Amino acid sequence: MIIGIDKMASYTPEFALDLTTLALARGDEPEKYTIGIGQNKQAVIPNFEDVVTMGVNAARKILTVADREQIDMVIFATESGIDNSKSAAIYAQRLLGLSSFSRTIELKQACYAGTYGLMQANDYVKAHPDKRVLVIASDIARYGIATPGEVTQGGGAIAMIVSQDPKLLAFNDDSVYMSQDVADFWRPLDRTEAIVDGHLSTDIYKEMFLTLWQRYKQNTNKTLNDFAGFAFHLPYTKMGKKALDQIIDEAHDGQRQRLLANLEASQLFSREVGNLYTGSVYLSLLSLISNSSDLLPGEQLAIFSYGSGAEAELYSVTLQKDFHQYVPADETKAMLAQRHEVTVAEYETMFNAQLHHSYGESQTAANSARKTVQFWGWRDGQRIYQ
Ligand code: COA
Repeated sequence: MIIGIDKMASYTPEFALDLTTLALARGDEPEKYTIGIGQNKQAVIPNFEDVVTMGVNAARKILTVADREQIDMVIFATESGIDNSKSAAIYAQRLLGLSSFSRTIELKQACYAGTYGLMQANDYVKAHPDKRVLVIASDIARYGIATPGEVTQGGGAIAMIVSQDPKLLAFNDDSVYMSQDVADFWRPLDRTEAIVDGHLSTDIYKEMFLTLWQRYKQNTNKTLNDFAGFAFHLPYTKMGKKALDQIIDEAHDGQRQRLLANLEASQLFSREVGNLYTGSVYLSLLSLISNSSDLLPGEQLAIFSYGSGAEAELYSVTLQKDFHQYVPADETKAMLAQRHEVTVAEYETMFNAQLHHSYGESQTAANSARKTVQFWGWRDGQRIYQ
């Protein structure tokens, strides 16, 4: 049985901040942000968006009536959850009109949890071939105003449906993975911004990629020449290059150029949005299949997922026969192009306008003119969505 990603879609809010403008405001050289770190813009999250609204707005782009009948599991991966008890997947199930006879669960392990969700979905469909699983990876990367991590903020969601006979990508069931207790990035329960040692995180990421690449080669007998491209978790786009540079000399000449060109294709969407934490590696995958000019059905892509703390997984997928037809490339590009650019002052106002406190009644800047699902505010300690 062939199982994999049948459909995928992305969502990011309607506001973006140009990072050259941010660099100038922070007294940094713009090239540090655009070249050294590799980011052009970042998503700015208004207070009527959160992981639930973004995840639901991504999933609404792909769900059909038939999907709604066959989906009986919703896996919601996030590290910016909105409740310490109730899962974001339950809100998503209602807002998406999915069956009550569903399993709904939220997963957490930093930026890695979306991959775990996909692997669970793969196992579930193996056991229940007529079922489809909705996997959502949704996050807000929030480090704080004028912190070193600020340039790598962002946010958005990826929604994927896992099924048998997928239209986009088949799982090759060749995962290698590892976990190690490291203090590179975490967010205590009483904080809304992450604590991060970005340089340590970069080192652990590179180390885990190299370790897993050696293990993957041993297990599968594959080499770098077997892959048309790589999708990396991209906390910032330069990270993917730092990882791939460690092994690129294992490829023959033409292959090296192809992998580097496809790495650039995989970075394009992240350059515009910033870090999506759990969704980041899948935005990179979406970017690769949307922007590469030379991918062919039957070719393999490698996917490297990393979550601080730290856990990583490397696996591969195979491009399906008519995958080009089903990649939402134009729609994703249009969504990014249509965003409103905000000033640094507007971004700072939005950053500080989040409604984290559940006591009392409060209202966000949600507006009924929007067709998307929004977070309207707090009532009786409950988050109100519609
Ligand atoms: N032109 C071009 N490149 C420049 C430059 C300029 N004018 N000025 C600096 N650079 C380069 C540096 O050489 C460096 O490149 P390198 O990494 O290839 O050596 C890069 O820009 C970043 O500079 P650095 O001084 O290391 O930046 P920083 O100390 O401000 O930290 C991050 C950058 C990415 C580490 C920081 O933003 C961060 O911690 N982000 C959070 C990321 C994270 O860890 N997320 C979670 C883990 S998945």
